[in-house]
Amino acid sequence: MAERIIKIRVTELMEGDIIAKDIYNSMGSVLVKKNSDLNDTIVQRLFKSYNDYIFVYRKVNDSFNTYEININQIIVKQIEDIIDATAKKFIKQDKDMEQIKKVLFEILNNDNIIKLLLPIRALGDNVFNHSVNVALYSLCVAREMFLPYSRQKVLGTAALLHDIGMQKISRDIIYKVEALTDSEKKIMQRHPKYSFDILQQTDSINLEVASIVLQHHERYDGKGYPLGLKNEKIHQMAKIISLCDMFDALTNDRPYRQKFEKNESVEYLLSAGENNYSSEILYGLINSISIYPYGQWVKLSTGDIGVIANQEEENSFNYRPEIMVYIDSDGKGLENPRFIDLSLRNNDNITIETII
Ligand SMILES: [Fe+2]
Repeated sequence: MAERIIKIRVTELMEGDIIAKDIYNSMGSVLVKKNSDLNDTIVQRLFKSYNDYIFVYRKVNDSFNTYEININQIIVKQIEDIIDATAKKFIKQDKDMEQIKKVLFEILNNDNIIKLLLPIRALGDNVFNHSVNVALYSLCVAREMFLPYSRQKVLGTAALLHDIGMQKISRDIIYKVEALTDSEKKIMQRHPKYSFDILQQTDSINLEVASIVLQHHERYDGKGYPLGLKNEKIHQMAKIISLCDMFDALTNDRPYRQKFEKNESVEYLLSAGENNYSSEILYGLINSISIYPYGQWVKLSTGDIGVIANQEEENSFNYRPEIMVYIDSDGKGLENPRFIDLSLRNNDNITIETII
């Protein structure tokens, strides 16, 4: 039977297809070599790739079965892996991750939602992981705010889909390393409206979810976009997503800057304060974040080095930890470790410079 080279989307792969051209990742290295047969590992890799299309050899005029790619399973597994990795690094251990996952899996048990996520997956880890992380953080906030289960589902759906409009923005702009020009910023700022338009055309998505997504870049002072809405006009869930969006952006590398530490990111949100975020939402997030895990080595602005000496407590608004200093600013080990409580007013000027 003749084999032809054809150009297909990853979702159109079939059993018996053979990769006909090397496939590269975004860094330019070979992700899958020419002449590779399909197997689950390769299919997983292809789904994580940035390639809209791939080339395969396919037997024609043959009765073959569709390769059993269960896209839903692959996407759900990838989302679970991202959630587990982020939760391990960022979420306090006492938070009920099983409940949060339950809401997300229920949202994902809908083919339309998976289909909406595929173009975001194809945009690469940056945008996809960000969407998942924002959903995770938003659901943490929802639980702190005691939102009912049905409302958590609305919020989780909007959070997962908030940036799907990015698929209409050029990758050159999304991944640009230098600062965006004014005209590029304007193009970037179209993405909430694009997300809204896509969601409005999707059957199982209700208008509330689409409206929340449309508003996720509005700001309390009316200086956001696309509508310039002010505080009371902005949907509460759009405010939650906006804060979680900011936190995830700060704690991850961006093409144009390196990530900030958790404590720096929280300090930033706190200093932006209640002018930008309602305290209920702000502390909903901060109470969920494991900023300084017990036993973590840190370097203080004084040059002292020590470990976090207190456990984080649930519902504690005090996010400044106690430190047991073992090495002083001259690099000398202390025979008698020194205790510093950063929550004391006297110690206001001491900050944690780096997490070691
Ligand atoms: Fe956005």
